[in-house]
Amino acid sequence: MKKFSATTPIYYVNAKPHLGHAYTTIVTDAVCRWHKLCGEEVHLLTGTDEHGLKIQQFADAEGVSPKQFVDRIAPMFADAWRRLNIDVSDFIRTTEQRHKVGVQKLLQACYDAGDIEVDVYRGHYCVACEAYYMPEELDDGKCKIHSTKAQYVEEENYFFRLSRYEKKLLDWYAAHPDAIKPDHRVNEVTGFIKQGLRDFSVSRKSLTWGIELPWDKSHVAYVWFDALANYITAHGYGTDEKRFAATWPVDYHFIGKDIIRFHCVYWPAMLMSAGLEPPKGWAVGGWLLVGGEKMSKTTGNVVNPLDLIDEIGVDGFRYYVLADTNYGNDGDFSYEGLLSRFNSDLANNFGNLAARVATVVEKKCGGVGPKPSSKGELAAIATTSVADTIKEWQNVQTSRALDATWSLIRATNAFLEAHEPWKMEPGKELDTVMGDALEALRIVTILASPAMPRTCQEVWQRLGMSGQVADQRIGTDTQWGRYPGSTKVHKGEPLFPRKKV
Ligand code: MSP
Repeated sequence: MKKFSATTPIYYVNAKPHLGHAYTTIVTDAVCRWHKLCGEEVHLLTGTDEHGLKIQQFADAEGVSPKQFVDRIAPMFADAWRRLNIDVSDFIRTTEQRHKVGVQKLLQACYDAGDIEVDVYRGHYCVACEAYYMPEELDDGKCKIHSTKAQYVEEENYFFRLSRYEKKLLDWYAAHPDAIKPDHRVNEVTGFIKQGLRDFSVSRKSLTWGIELPWDKSHVAYVWFDALANYITAHGYGTDEKRFAATWPVDYHFIGKDIIRFHCVYWPAMLMSAGLEPPKGWAVGGWLLVGGEKMSKTTGNVVNPLDLIDEIGVDGFRYYVLADTNYGNDGDFSYEGLLSRFNSDLANNFGNLAARVATVVEKKCGGVGPKPSSKGELAAIATTSVADTIKEWQNVQTSRALDATWSLIRATNAFLEAHEPWKMEPGKELDTVMGDALEALRIVTILASPAMPRTCQEVWQRLGMSGQVADQRIGTDTQWGRYPGSTKVHKGEPLFPRKKV
């Protein structure tokens, strides 16, 4: 069976999950669910990034130990993903023993390869980013992402000799031109490498909240070295080499654009140094902005996804974030935008189609669905919609994929409006119209299920289909004419009651 393995970033546990975290995680989940529909065995890894100075400082401010602090926050992430119906295969915390063992193995491998050497770091550090910056990368001494003052640091550090990897990285990207999605990000990465790479610090001496270097216990690993390693430690590196050999490299790291250098430059170099393969790919997303600004605790514009799902439903919320922003671009979150998309795409389109079809079948066909025709006018539209939806999900273009699916919903609603089956007498003509509408709705239900798993399962059942919509297969079950007819169709409650704007 073909495998598809994806990862989300592991999130800092300085505060509870916000919309930006939920966004990246929902996209990863939806793409994984898509690959499952394609018949692949799927693995989704997520987790929490728990070491480093930032966490230490938040714990200090609360007057608790860092361990107590992270033990309180990390479960909030696991809980949020449960509530957002994320199908998590593995959740790694960087404070787990399996991670520590793997990080130390990776550090030792890079050290033994001669790529880690001791030196003195003098420069600026943004605690919110947990990143070192050159003066020209700052705005009047402030971090460009957080608008907070970067600290001046001078201390003994071990450095990873990234400068040795310029050519190797460029050669690798030349041999793997499709590794980063969307395509234009590859130039950003290779352009950065071509400017010349600076060695980066992989340890801190002034901090204790971290994983000790195996050869020098007076240092702990730099939090990014520690964090990036989660992608292999969760897959068994250092603890279960057989599993690791079978599961690495993964297909995609899903990341936000702010962490592209760590993931697409540092990380493959670290892996090469340890004699390991880079991941097969990265899917780089933009930011969801609120009022034009990136959401963050520091900026104070945090939107809690769990408040929104209480209001709009899990699937309504999942749909909104996937459909409103094409993955790779920035999106602007607004409450009005959320409600208006809910009303237009879900209440007026998908929900309306499901309700109309079931109402007519109940009233005029005795509640039993007629068979579709072999190639009605909707069949050709369905074939195009399926092909476009496949292409867009394959390229991690979430909003385009949903739009391709919605083109079939819109066409089916227009088809019903043109034929007005609600005015027809029972008989052959009515049966043909309703059979085709049911078939289009059945196909839509499969195609939309990665975005809205529960709603699509509900519609699947209302159509009288047996089994799970998630067990259908793209390609075979999305072919026109698979609806067998003669199933009992139920109307049920409105799927998406309209919201007052
Ligand atoms: N802990 C590091 C990642 C380590 S991965 C080995 C980290 N954590 S984070 O919690 O700050 O951010 C994690 C991800 O969430 C990043 O990819 C970031 O881009 C994403 N988002 C955080 N805020 C966001 C938005 N407002 N919009 C979209 N995603 C953003 O960085």
